[in-house]
Amino acid sequence: METIRVESLSKSYPKSERPALSEVSFTARPGTVLGLLGPNGSGKTTTVRILATLLRPDGGQAWIDGHDVVAQPQQVRAAIGLTGQYAAVDDELTGLRNLELISRLLGASRPAARARATELIERFELEEAAGRMVKTYSGGMRRRLDVAASLVGRPRVLFLDEPTTGLDPRSRNEVWSLVRELVADGVTVLLTTQYLEEADQLANDLVMLDQGRVVASGTPTELKSKAGGLALQVRVVSTGDCARAAGHVAAVTGSQPAVDEDTGLIEVPVGDTGALRRLVGELEDAGIPFVELGLRQATLDEVFFALTGRSPKAAAAAETDADAAPIAAGAAERTSR
Ligand SMILES: Nc1ncnc2c1ncn2[C@@H]1O[C@H](COP(=O)(O)OP(=O)(O)O)[C@@H](O)[C@H]1O
Ligand SMILES: [Mg+2]
Repeated sequence: METIRVESLSKSYPKSERPALSEVSFTARPGTVLGLLGPNGSGKTTTVRILATLLRPDGGQAWIDGHDVVAQPQQVRAAIGLTGQYAAVDDELTGLRNLELISRLLGASRPAARARATELIERFELEEAAGRMVKTYSGGMRRRLDVAASLVGRPRVLFLDEPTTGLDPRSRNEVWSLVRELVADGVTVLLTTQYLEEADQLANDLVMLDQGRVVASGTPTELKSKAGGLALQVRVVSTGDCARAAGHVAAVTGSQPAVDEDTGLIEVPVGDTGALRRLVGELEDAGIPFVELGLRQATLDEVFFALTGRSPKAAAAAETDADAAPIAAGAAERTSR
């Protein structure tokens, strides 16, 4: 049985133009990471909130470990842990005290709560900071404490909503290794992210969302070969040759390549490997020296572009503009998110 099963979830917020979710379906197998991938406003948090029993869907159904999230919220809550997009721990308490408190709230005795908090502090390598108030923590330490907080009740299913947004690369790597450890322990993780690279690194299966709809799902490799296919890359020795080389690439592949004038890198999507052979001949005949020439698999960014006609960055920016419009018009009546 799938640990997470989502069937045709739909949700519209009052007074919004388009649904936040339309007919979203996916499943997650036990002990795997499901990556819910999409730009700002694509419906990731709405999905997580419905699965965590914090929000009712308008249509569709979802089950966690076989329990219906609407009809059996108690059983669902007993199975899950949730780390939101924004830290949920108390700034004015120490890290250890935060974890103890959560454990007490979940019904543990005082000594049991202390033991569980200490265990998690060690597991998350926060010993040195355990006795300090959380407001003195770095972003990465806070995020680790936040994940620790969601694990106090030993959930079998963990929701991580953009756990690395705003983190520096080192802290991001720490969160990544944490997720890998949890999965090795058998926890099923639903991770939302705007970072295609993160999804690529961590997720066994991906669900790509855009404007509340699933635009693609599958393993990262499946997605990359579904759309876009291959990309041809060539780097010329002298950046002065860029324009000329790009002309040859266009002639050989029939598509206009992307050219980076600073690095001399020229890239273009290709349908087959024959272009590579033809290009070598062309560049040699034209006397254009190059240092790199090869094929690579399309990136998830390119897949998103191929499926939606927008780059993930442009999609996120468009959403931000849409959000800003009613505020500028003075008509904003916003509920908290
Ligand atoms: N409380 C709310 N009230 C009205 N609209 C909302 C609310 N929360 C989210 N939305 C809208 O629903 C859509 C999906 O939002 P969300 O699930 O937060 O996306 P994501 O987490 O992918 O950024 C967006 O268009 C957003 O503006
Ligand atoms: Mg969100």
